[in-house]
Amino acid sequence: MIKTSAPGKVILFGEHAVVYGEPSLVAALDKRTYVEADEREDDRINITSNVDSRSLSLEDLSRGGEDPLRYVRKALDLVFERVEESTGLELKIRSETPPASGLGSSASVSVATILAVSKLLGADLSPREIADMGHRVELEVQGAASPTDTSIATFGGMLYVLPKEKRVETVDADLSLIVGYTGVERSTKVLVERVRALRESYPSIVDPIIKDIGKLTREARVRLDGGGEIGDLMNINHGLLEALGVCTEQLSRAVYAARDAGAQGAKLTGAGGGGCMIALAAEHQGEVMRAIEACDCSAMTSSLSREGVRIER
Ligand code: MEV
Repeated sequence: MIKTSAPGKVILFGEHAVVYGEPSLVAALDKRTYVEADEREDDRINITSNVDSRSLSLEDLSRGGEDPLRYVRKALDLVFERVEESTGLELKIRSETPPASGLGSSASVSVATILAVSKLLGADLSPREIADMGHRVELEVQGAASPTDTSIATFGGMLYVLPKEKRVETVDADLSLIVGYTGVERSTKVLVERVRALRESYPSIVDPIIKDIGKLTREARVRLDGGGEIGDLMNINHGLLEALGVCTEQLSRAVYAARDAGAQGAKLTGAGGGGCMIALAAEHQGEVMRAIEACDCSAMTSSLSREGVRIER
């Protein structure tokens, strides 16, 4: 039996724009997804998880469909293809982040599954290969995806992701973040598609917004490196995400409430449409959490995780 885990994430800057080649800044959360994999004598693949449980055949892995286990199915399909071998499996999955919440549960389950099952079959994939395979899972399931979520699930810490250069850089910064969860599940695929449609209808308006988000992200990187303030930049980023149509009334209420309660900056995080927001609050943490909770959200302080995907001993 092999047990692995990979962290969830919060995007600090650059969601959506990163799908069009702009950089993103992302941090790993200390909330992880755990995957336990064991071989079976027959060729059934039994998956139990906190979102869904199924018994699948090998043929089920490559078929389409929007079931909650689609990322796991695709991850298994790609691992079997890579190691040129397949096997029946017992797979147990437990995630500490809510599904479809913008905290990277799909990427962390994909990456942890890739490591667990490749190891079980005797293959030693490099972290780079795991990250690339995780990205392929997201591309094939969602149609469009940047390498942001799967890179952070693999490498952990804080990363500056440069999709055009196919490169990630480590950022060394410590932030006191509060995460507010609206409790509303949403589909990244649908939200990425919404931005694509808006861009197609109004290219001369939407392209500059995407480029401006890229500028903000570059500026935030410079400031984080120099120990400078990023609160205002988070607020501007939130405004631009509202302009792209991925915000909701509840998310914006929580963002404004957090700022009014003393947060230095606040924005939605991830694809939007529900899911989560983040507030930067070195001080007034109690007030900021209560303000977010008053907007029908759950609030939690969160430490960032240095560790990416790993084998659990
Ligand atoms: C989702 O966590 C972030 C998006 O930018 C999509 C992606 O980067 O693939 C919305």
